[in-house]
Amino acid sequence: MADNTLGAYNIADLREIARRRLPKGMFEFVDRGTEDELALANNRAGFERIKFRPRTLVDVSGRNQEITLFGKKSPLPFVIGPTGTAGLLWYQGEIGLARAAAAAGIPFTVALNSMTSMETIAERAGGRLWFQLYMWSDRALSHEIVARAKAAGFEALIITVDGAVAPNREYGHRNGFEMPFRFNRHNVAGVLARPGWLFNVLLRYALASGIPRFENYPPEVMDKLTARTLKRSFLKNDSLNWEDIRTLRKLWPGVLMVKGILHPQDAALAADCGADAVIVSNHGGRMLDSSIAPIDALPEVLDAVGKRLTVMVDSGVRRGSDVVKALALGAQAVLIGRATLYGTAAAGEAGAARAIAILREETDRVMALIGARNVAALNREFLHFAVTQPRDTGHAAVETGLRGVEALTRIG
Ligand SMILES: Cc1cc2nc3c(=O)[nH]c(=O)nc-3n(C[C@H](O)[C@H](O)[C@H](O)COP(=O)(O)O)c2cc1C
Repeated sequence: MADNTLGAYNIADLREIARRRLPKGMFEFVDRGTEDELALANNRAGFERIKFRPRTLVDVSGRNQEITLFGKKSPLPFVIGPTGTAGLLWYQGEIGLARAAAAAGIPFTVALNSMTSMETIAERAGGRLWFQLYMWSDRALSHEIVARAKAAGFEALIITVDGAVAPNREYGHRNGFEMPFRFNRHNVAGVLARPGWLFNVLLRYALASGIPRFENYPPEVMDKLTARTLKRSFLKNDSLNWEDIRTLRKLWPGVLMVKGILHPQDAALAADCGADAVIVSNHGGRMLDSSIAPIDALPEVLDAVGKRLTVMVDSGVRRGSDVVKALALGAQAVLIGRATLYGTAAAGEAGAARAIAILREETDRVMALIGARNVAALNREFLHFAVTQPRDTGHAAVETGLRGVEALTRIG
């Protein structure tokens, strides 16, 4: 039987293959966070702090991971989230990733900033498709994109709302990775060090269709983007507000989701504006550093809107155990970001399929080991929240010292 593991037994293995295949700047664009990467680390720490309280002697034979999402059954409790750059990791990477999702029967989200147009992905990959939008300052142009997604038959529209301004990724400046891609003195060495990527990705695009660009953008926007002076003002969307969500609700007849919610009151506002779902997310730690881990924000959001909306979560999912923890807390599904991107970078469609298979197998194993036959059986009773003991830090020492001084003052 052919070995379809690609030598990768977990997501970390796929990440390592991706690191060896991609130019440094490209890999860091996918892998890293923002500023001091506190949110990136804390997203993982949030999952790691939660432990299982397994039940035993439960008949878990015939278990399954099926969920119902917006009235349709899905065999797995996760969804491929929007990531703009899959098409730069592998030639036509978005099509490969979307096909892997379709083969697994799970939804795939086409990002506005894809290298392949939404219509091409719909035609070449099929499956259950969602579309993600960043609103531009020119609302009318954004609304045209929404009309295209509607015409292309997309099931859901996700509005990402956690990027009022561009994030501060200092390594990005150092690495010189910008869109549209151009060689420059910062990135040339990294690209030449990865001839496989240069030939199999960049040159293939160059020969077939030109240097990759944001294929969902209308031509007039692409022109604006290449005229550097206009770039910033055009992409600026710091005037986006809840009224925009109300307008989108009127324009979009399908499922409407707001992505990037971390505060329960914002979740309630999303519901008031007619959204069907919120995605509790800090963009994988790529926007606001020091933002709360979504897995920690999830319970409050569920308490606020769990009865009104579908609540999903992402950021930091690398293991099936993370998926199970999120579901046990009450999330209806989990979005996957980097895990399937590492797979795509490692081996295109086969690599994305491998990432999905790893998460599927790990989720199944954890469900069996904690005694949960299906997703409906999961609840917070399976979880243990470690009480963090104050560490013996300088602060603790100062406090102890102060108490000592107080005591001495009283005595004295
Ligand atoms: C390389 C990359 C590109 C992304 N592009 C987008 C995007 O275009 N739109 C969006 O809403 N989120 C984008 N995201 C965020 C993901 O949708 C998701 O929230 C995040 O990756 C989840 O964290 P995880 O990668 O730790 O799973 C991107 C993430 C990565 C890693």
